[in-house]
Amino acid sequence: MNSGRIAGRVREIKGSGIREFFDVAQQMEGAISLGVGEPDFVTPWSIREACIFSLEKGYTSYTSNWGLLELREALSDSIYKESGVYYYPEGEILITTGVSEALDLTLRAIINPRDEVVLHEPSYVSYKPCTIFAAGTPVCIDTEVEDEFKLRAEKLEAKITEHTKAVILSYPNNPTGATLSRKDLEEIADVVNEHDLLVISDEVYGKLTYEGRHTCFSSLNGMKERTILLNGFSKAYAMTGWRLGYAAGDKEIIEAMMKIHQYIMLCAPITAQMAAMEALRTNDEVGRMVSEYNRRRRLMVEGLKEIGLSCFEPKGAFYTFPSIENTGLTSEEFAKKLLLEEKVVVIPGSVFGACGEGFIRCAYAVSQYEIKEALERVGRFMDRHHI
Ligand SMILES: Cc1ncc(COP(=O)(O)O)c(C=O)c1O
Repeated sequence: MNSGRIAGRVREIKGSGIREFFDVAQQMEGAISLGVGEPDFVTPWSIREACIFSLEKGYTSYTSNWGLLELREALSDSIYKESGVYYYPEGEILITTGVSEALDLTLRAIINPRDEVVLHEPSYVSYKPCTIFAAGTPVCIDTEVEDEFKLRAEKLEAKITEHTKAVILSYPNNPTGATLSRKDLEEIADVVNEHDLLVISDEVYGKLTYEGRHTCFSSLNGMKERTILLNGFSKAYAMTGWRLGYAAGDKEIIEAMMKIHQYIMLCAPITAQMAAMEALRTNDEVGRMVSEYNRRRRLMVEGLKEIGLSCFEPKGAFYTFPSIENTGLTSEEFAKKLLLEEKVVVIPGSVFGACGEGFIRCAYAVSQYEIKEALERVGRFMDRHHI
């Protein structure tokens, strides 16, 4: 069939390399997946219960396009308590179907054709395609393991042109687990100010940090007006399937995003919104999950080193990003062979940008038992290939 039926910018974008591996593994008996970036925990019971109660009470309708006011108020309180930034529940917070929708809305609301959006790599797979779908031009900055995968202010400055509109900041980072200190962020904020840029700050892993507290970018001096803060419930509350997130930012931008949202989504699901209000009341469960991720993180990092894969020590999210350079295989070859021979799913680093080549992403959102078993299999794989 003539591919002219599909818009060029869509045709040219490859499907997500993560799903490819996930689909193969699902058909494979006995496979262990360190592949997919989602918590293995079930959503805490009190949250599920709140959802069930809401259904019993008959909450099955649309909500305001903005999302339930009560949820926006609870979010406003929670953001303020955690980071000291105050967002008005009316006009500065929009409830979305996950960070995914919030990202898409942000880009579509601010980008004119050919505007440039700077993003650091390795990073989450959606940033580049969503920028292109919004008719913008992604401009990538490589980050390096030797520099802890940090986006440096000087590197950002070097990429700025008269067309630069925004920067996507994504820390704690998927796939590297890297974080930025307050000082690193302040240096970036200076560049943002100087060049009159907007910042799309994806902080979906903000609650999952193991060394030091996360700094919300919009809490930095002068950054609230310039930042569209994206966050959601998927990772910290183990609520990936509920599809709930939010954007918070300057009223003018959030209102523009809302314009798109009301036509394409109408509103986020009410059931998920009711559950999210309970999630914001149950921080204990988040603490328990973070402690468990931390134990797994240590197990994974030490285990990888023991089998000869040097590994950057992640400080947030739930990913490790070991180097496989000394194996002589590309990251895709490594991941494919490992899956076929030992039934362990890892994601080739190249999926997260060209500078991710030479690395693989191993998520530790699986049980300690599975991590140990996976490490044993990877070790056997390395021995078999005399690596
Ligand atoms: C950095 C990052 N942002 C956003 C998302 C998507 O989040 P949501 O489930 O809220 O759409 C993911 C999912 O893996 C992610 O890793």
